[in-house]
Amino acid sequence: MPADLFDKVRNFTLAKDAMARGVYPFFQPLTNSEGTTAIFNGKEVIMLGSNNYLGLTTHPKVRQAAIDAIKTYGTSCTGSRFLNGTLELHLELERRLARYMGTEAALTFTTGYQANVGTISALVGRGDYVIIDKEDHASIVDGCLMSYGELKRFSHNDVRSLETVLSRLPDNAGKLVVVDGVYSMGGDIAPLPEIIAICKKYGARIMVDDAHGIGVTGPNGRGTAAYFNMMDDVDVIMGTFSKSFASVGGYIAGKADVIHYIQHHARSLIFSASLPPANAGTVLACLDVIENDLSIVPKLWENANFMREQLTRMGFDTGKSNTPIIPIIIRDELRTVLAWRALADSGVYVNPVLPPGVPANASLLRTSYTATHTRSQLERALEIFADVADRLDLVAANHSDGNFINGNLAGASSVAQEAQIHN
Ligand SMILES: Cc1ncc(COP(=O)(O)O)c(C=O)c1O
Repeated sequence: MPADLFDKVRNFTLAKDAMARGVYPFFQPLTNSEGTTAIFNGKEVIMLGSNNYLGLTTHPKVRQAAIDAIKTYGTSCTGSRFLNGTLELHLELERRLARYMGTEAALTFTTGYQANVGTISALVGRGDYVIIDKEDHASIVDGCLMSYGELKRFSHNDVRSLETVLSRLPDNAGKLVVVDGVYSMGGDIAPLPEIIAICKKYGARIMVDDAHGIGVTGPNGRGTAAYFNMMDDVDVIMGTFSKSFASVGGYIAGKADVIHYIQHHARSLIFSASLPPANAGTVLACLDVIENDLSIVPKLWENANFMREQLTRMGFDTGKSNTPIIPIIIRDELRTVLAWRALADSGVYVNPVLPPGVPANASLLRTSYTATHTRSQLERALEIFADVADRLDLVAANHSDGNFINGNLAGASSVAQEAQIHN
């Protein structure tokens, strides 16, 4: 019998099994989402699962800018930036981004994902090396795989591990080190000063994916490199529009000649339609708001610091988070999904993150906070966290040996009972 390519389709039962047990957490529809709240399963939930850090998706000026851009330019450019898809609006946005970031130039892409794959595969050629943190975002990994260079990894935020990797590479090979500024699951920050020092020692260029740092860290949200006052030491900074900038899209910022090279070599830019006008208009309006209202970023931190303090005081394991992304580390996969479901049913929406999104035995609930959450929303969410933690024995379980395997839990009976409830 010849092999059937679709054997893998028939054999993929994991998601269907979870659906049958009522514990499938992905692709769940929200019927409405107005920033800090959403409607899930017909009920209002407090949204602690978005990346809308500055809460700008519903800002009146931002909404209006999207509408105005559609009125002026229509809904799409129906073409690549390379040919018919460049509007004066894109160029204006690139000038504004470069000004905000304090770099010579910036270049927009249609998604953040495309910004990473296009930039890395353009820069890293045959005979070059690309060296990444083990917790770097999937789009960085994909960019490395699309490049003709060789991929090496170092342990998460471990500068000694980075040095070990770099020290073994040939002197005469080109090297690009790529790190996240703020890690999207753990909410921890890359130790850029140390990383940059090692890169310089070994002649490596450095790129920072600051999808979760832009609008969040540094002076007026200019990101992780600005936070460390090292803007001139980073070769390429990548950001997205799908988080603080309340839209979809991505960009890179850096020296004009580097951006020029990438603009003419990034296949994800050249062979894909450009950022739609409404998205560009949205980001321009977000930049106006951020540059004119200096209270938004501090408000975000006030909310994030309040929640980190409270969640830690309640006994949750929040890992090494020091940003508005605060994981609640549960470890066991089933318990994580059950906690997610119980929270959603009780009025709090968070994101369950399971392997391969995190390493085995490190499943977590990703919670994230915005400048526009009210104190009463956050206090209500804390009450719900306390109630669910109590019912599912989350905190005690978390602080035992931390070595859970599916179905082998001290509190397995309560998990099984919950699984029944949702069946
Ligand atoms: C660290 C990081 N880089 C890149 C991306 C991709 O960005 P986008 O969703 O804008 O395509 C994301 C989004 O999930 C991210 O978290």
